[in-house]
Parts: sequence; structure tokens; C-alpha cells
Amino acid sequence: MKRIILISDLQMPLENKRANRNLINLIHDSQPDEVINIGDINDYTASGRWSAGKRAEYGMTVRQEANYTIRTHIQPLRAGYDGPITLLGSNHGERPHKYLVDRAPALYDEESFREDKLLRLDDFGIKFEPVRYDFAPGWSAIHGHGKGINLARYSGGTAINAARRYGRSIVMGHTHRAGIVSETTGPAGSKTVTGVELGHLMDITKAAYLGPERLANWQSAFGLFYVDGTTVTPHLIPVSRNGSFIVEGERYK
Ligand SMILES: [Fe+2]
Ligand SMILES: [Fe+2]
Repeated sequence: MKRIILISDLQMPLENKRANRNLINLIHDSQPDEVINIGDINDYTASGRWSAGKRAEYGMTVRQEANYTIRTHIQPLRAGYDGPITLLGSNHGERPHKYLVDRAPALYDEESFREDKLLRLDDFGIKFEPVRYDFAPGWSAIHGHGKGINLARYSGGTAINAARRYGRSIVMGHTHRAGIVSETTGPAGSKTVTGVELGHLMDITKAAYLGPERLANWQSAFGLFYVDGTTVTPHLIPVSRNGSFIVEGERYK
């Protein structure tokens, strides 16, 4: 049976540092068959439209943020895990390259500030999937920022909307909500699709863009999926504010 760990929305350097370390420990200890990062691994605040013309834009921090992610997530993860890792394209991941195309098109070339280059994914043997990754029978992983996906206010609602649209089960991030919703149709319940939203791994107190009270209907979590042939069992592992969580009876703190 395959075990897959799926994580999303670390938004580094706004990540929950302890959750990041605990997760790396879990991956080292449990050696899953695969790790899938659903995207928004970096925040890239400086190149966002919210920063246009503001002080943050002049922080010129894109490369620094990418290097921070390499230093505090990718390298330590790789230090104890040789298995397959895939990173999906995402709205925050696309930001630096989009910014260059929109605001400095004269400097455009194919390679500059592409997420896979910024994070040196080739050097670390990490696969990059810009849009969608079909990782198990009947299941696809997407980041969830693409056109045509209707946002729902409840956790799991956006993912089941996406699953309906694709006609297969979907695991996604992007909403920063954590939930699992299934829907069954067809004669005698012949077809069930499931939508999973993985939640986020941020330290909300660092997200200044949420306003002084940091109000957001977001949950911190990640995914642990078991795959046995065509049977796919999704689990969500909630992460506490102090970054700890329990997996298979073991506490990581
Ligand atoms: Fe995100
Ligand atoms: Fe996103």
C-alpha cells in the first residue's frame, strides 16, 4: 500500500516554523512513498498586486524568499528523504514571472523568475507540474486557483465543486480551508467523487494582509493518503497553532 503526504500553502516566509519542522521530521521518520506539494510554497509578497506602489514592492525580496525556502524547507527535507517529490504550479508561485511580464516586459525571457528555476527544483530532483497531477486512480491534485472553479465558503465545498467539474476526485489547496466532502450520483450509488481541501501551514500572525485581528476562516492541516490499487483513502491531519499534530498515534511537536 502506498502512503502519500500532501502539503499546501506554506506561504514561506510566512510559514508556521514549528509545523514545517515537524512535517519534515514526519517525512524523515515515516518515509512515505511520495510527497506532493500543492503549491503556494512561497508567498512572494513583494510581487503581488497588493504591494504595487507600496513599500513592500521595493523590498526586492523575491530571490531572498526563494532562497529562504530552499534553506529551510527543501534542503532539510531532502537531507532525510530521497523519494519522489512533486510541486504544483500556483498563483503565488506564478507571481514573480507574471510581474516581470506585466510590469517589465522588456526584460522578459523564458527562464527568468520561473518558480522551478527560482527554487532550483532540478538540483533537488523535484518534479514540477504547472497545472494538474493525476497521482492515483480517479484522483487529481490541482492548486485550485484556475479559472472555472467556484469558491465555496465552507471547508471542502470548493474542492467538491472542482471534482464535479473534472468528473473525478480532487485534492487542492488555495482556499486555506481543510475539509473533505463526497458526492454520490448514478444508479445505486455507482459514482462517488470526493473533494479534499488541505488547509494551510502558515503562521497567521505573520499575515499582515489579514488586518490587525487576522480574521480568516482558515484551518491549518495537511493530507495523508493511502492508496491500495484503486482504493484511495484520504485523511486530513489538523495542525495546532503551535505546529504540533498527531499521525498514526504519534505526536509530532
Ligand atoms: Fe495560498
Ligand atoms: Fe493559492
